[in-house]
Amino acid sequence: MTVDAPVAFDPLEEGFVASPYEQYARLRAHDPVHWSPLVDGWVLTRFDDVAAVLRDPTVSVELRHARPTPTVERQRERQARTGRSPDTLVLRDEPDHGRLRRLVQAPFGPRPVEALRRTVEQRVAAAIAALASRGSADLIAEFAYPLPVAVFNDVLGLPDEDAEQVREWIRAVTRVLDPVIDDAEHERCRALMDEMYEHLGEVIEAKRRHPADDLLTALVTAEDAGDRLSRDELVAQVVTLYVAGHEPTMSLIGNGLLALLRQPDQLALLRARPDLLRNAVDELARFDGPNQFVRRIATRPMVLGGREVAPGDVLYACVGAANRDPARWDDPDRVRVDRPDAAQHVQFGAGIHRCLGMHLARLQAEVALGALVGLDDLRLDGEPEWNERMVIRGLRRLPIAFRAR
Ligand code: HEM
Repeated sequence: MTVDAPVAFDPLEEGFVASPYEQYARLRAHDPVHWSPLVDGWVLTRFDDVAAVLRDPTVSVELRHARPTPTVERQRERQARTGRSPDTLVLRDEPDHGRLRRLVQAPFGPRPVEALRRTVEQRVAAAIAALASRGSADLIAEFAYPLPVAVFNDVLGLPDEDAEQVREWIRAVTRVLDPVIDDAEHERCRALMDEMYEHLGEVIEAKRRHPADDLLTALVTAEDAGDRLSRDELVAQVVTLYVAGHEPTMSLIGNGLLALLRQPDQLALLRARPDLLRNAVDELARFDGPNQFVRRIATRPMVLGGREVAPGDVLYACVGAANRDPARWDDPDRVRVDRPDAAQHVQFGAGIHRCLGMHLARLQAEVALGALVGLDDLRLDGEPEWNERMVIRGLRRLPIAFRAR
């Protein structure tokens, strides 16, 4: 089938880490519904296919529906070894997904999130003040990473924690999302995840004993038509929120600032027109957002791009490629902070699993980027380093310089 295809999905190809978009473009042009023996699944790179699959109610997120390929077997085995059932709403179909989502969604709506603006602004102002006198920094370590941790701890009402420890846990959880990871590393990550589950379980118990006016207490006591989360369900959702809330937000800020530094006309436009900030966040999410792949499983025969997809086949919907599809976007490989339809991107997913935290992520990115572009003489100060992830693409290091205040 794809043996003769002129292109292959290969995250190990030279240059892929710095920019996967050239490979995506080749796939989209020559084999947009591409069977990848590397991940034992279909890699979808066209906007229309990606959006259709994410919105299709017959397409599942539950791995139990997948045909047992070597990749699927490995993922199942690893899931079984955690000793935990996949209780997170991300990995449940209806009706379980809807039930869990209804129980946790209230604090993440546009209004409750907008009420957090001052908290976010204060955190950002403090972080900028700490940088401003120095003239240079690694944006990731000194700003983009600590910000979502601090905001999330404020919002959830979590005790002050060892930021490095949290970072290690989160790194482990996001790393296991990659379909290409060896057993030894998977084991190391699993041990770290166990620690994280245990820690969050204790924090939740403490909240139950000492309720407060915060999001975690709201989740502990959340009810929907007399329904409640069990303890395991609650821990699983908090882990999800915790992880989903950190790394992608950090990477949106990092990737977004790098994109602006590489297109100085857009940086200048944003400085002159702060009213474009909100739209700029969506445009930067479209252009180089952290989420690259969303996994799904077909449960019925489907024809996608002329290819026959069988029930049980795994689909890797590449949102990063969809957001650069020239059939959907004008001049997709350029950032245009005033792009009129930027918010139509699928970086936050689509359909029933569309990102629950997108308003919070947008708010943080908007306030953070607004403050960063205000630094005088802002520029790159060395080579950025990428994190080498296939699913959550982000920077490990982003050296910047600016005029000290
Ligand atoms: C730039 C930042 C973010 C990006 C790019 C992002 C992206 C995504 C994507 C693509 C999905 C869909 C996954 C799928 O369909 O399988 C998703 C789901 C989700 N996100 Fe985010 N996310 C971000 C920030 C956040 C934040 C800050 C939170 C929490 C506070 C969050 C919580 C969630 C949750 C709970 C889901 C699962 C929703 C469901 O299954 O119904 N995300 N996110």
